[in-house]
Amino acid sequence: MVILQPHQTSNKQSMETQSMATHHLLLLLLCSAHFFLSPCRSDPDPLQDFCVANLRASDITVDGFPCKPTSGVAADDFFSTVLSKEGNTNNVFSSNLTSANVLSFPGLNTLGLSMNRVDFAPGGVNPPHSHPRSAELVLVTKGRLLVGFVSTSNVFYSRVVKAGEIFVIPRGLVHFQYNVGKKKALAITVFNSQLPGAVVAPLALFGSKPAIPSEVLAKAFQVDQQVVKLIKSKFGS
Ligand code: GLV
Ligand code: MN
Repeated sequence: MVILQPHQTSNKQSMETQSMATHHLLLLLLCSAHFFLSPCRSDPDPLQDFCVANLRASDITVDGFPCKPTSGVAADDFFSTVLSKEGNTNNVFSSNLTSANVLSFPGLNTLGLSMNRVDFAPGGVNPPHSHPRSAELVLVTKGRLLVGFVSTSNVFYSRVVKAGEIFVIPRGLVHFQYNVGKKKALAITVFNSQLPGAVVAPLALFGSKPAIPSEVLAKAFQVDQQVVKLIKSKFGS
């Protein structure tokens, strides 16, 4: 029998220790690779069951809202009718987006998810836009939509999506939905963020306040400034 001193280890033990150290190192490397490769991160995990937002608490808007005291929380805080009505599509895009995010449904605070309903008249479009804080799952519940996104390599991925079918948009990529059917269409979109944010390309570029100088856009889009001014006039910039 080999008696080991406290500072001595058997070959088996030292191999186990080595393999544990390798395992931990690998885990650390994987975690840091994940951190550095995904600078756009999803909402953080909650630290409590729920934190119904008190939207009036203060001006603090860092990573969500302060919680309403639990003693004042009721079932109604986890219920909302915000998506129950058809949106008015009588606008230039012939579409309407209604959001159930933390601002319209405070019960979502810290839960890392939200949902929209997007109504489309025939020919309606939800114009090219991106969500800086979320991927998006599109469920078509009525009609037929052309749904597409463009990757950072400028590859366009699209499908015509019918009622009951889904299409996923990776986080941060420019995407749209377009009603290719002859009737109204409806999509429910789901996000892994309580407030995904949206940069709507035509509004950001041609409707910002103050306006982006026309010569910048003319050069960027390789058109005459008159063309830029015409587009700007459509978006009030
Ligand atoms: C659709 O693209 C949405 O943002 O709800
Ligand atoms: Mn979207």
